[in-house]
Amino acid sequence: MSHSERTFIAVKPDGVQRGLTSKILARFEDRGYKLVGIKLIQADEQLLSQHYAEHVGKPFFPKMVSFMMSGPILATVWEGKDVVKQGRVILGATNPLSNAPGTIRGDFGIDLGRNVCHGSDSVESANREISLWFKKEELVQWESNQAKWIY
Ligand code: TYD
Ligand code: MG
Repeated sequence: MSHSERTFIAVKPDGVQRGLTSKILARFEDRGYKLVGIKLIQADEQLLSQHYAEHVGKPFFPKMVSFMMSGPILATVWEGKDVVKQGRVILGATNPLSNAPGTIRGDFGIDLGRNVCHGSDSVESANREISLWFKKEELVQWESNQAKWIY
């Protein structure tokens, strides 16, 4: 399993407004994953329609997109072994009410439409989402001094 696997994790507008960004970043840092990209972005409908292409036309789509445009999103890219799958574990299930405490959504959310964060669901989705939200030059390749203690 590659140590350079990458995933796209975003703090949604509710998480940013509620001041949860540092707590969410800490979950990934604490686990040992490496931050390689980060920016605050006000997404538009075009970006979100591409990001959520699989959901275009579904009944919840219009409300979900207007929520995602309602404030800034913290877009991040994390790197490390199995980070895509583990990222989803750290986030928890889509519906916050389905989670026991210990996941981000289980600790900070109640409503399905206000579930605080996004995480790529596969390596293919991760690669697609990273290139959608970030320019190549916005991603930083760096050696973490901690790596030899983590792996
Ligand atoms: P989905 O890709 O199914 O979940 P996940 O974020 O866990 O990959 O759905 C995308 C987002 O759409 C989800 O995080 C919350 C929102 N959503 C709704 O508002 N209503 C719904 O019925 C579903 C399925 C999702
Ligand atoms: Mg999804």
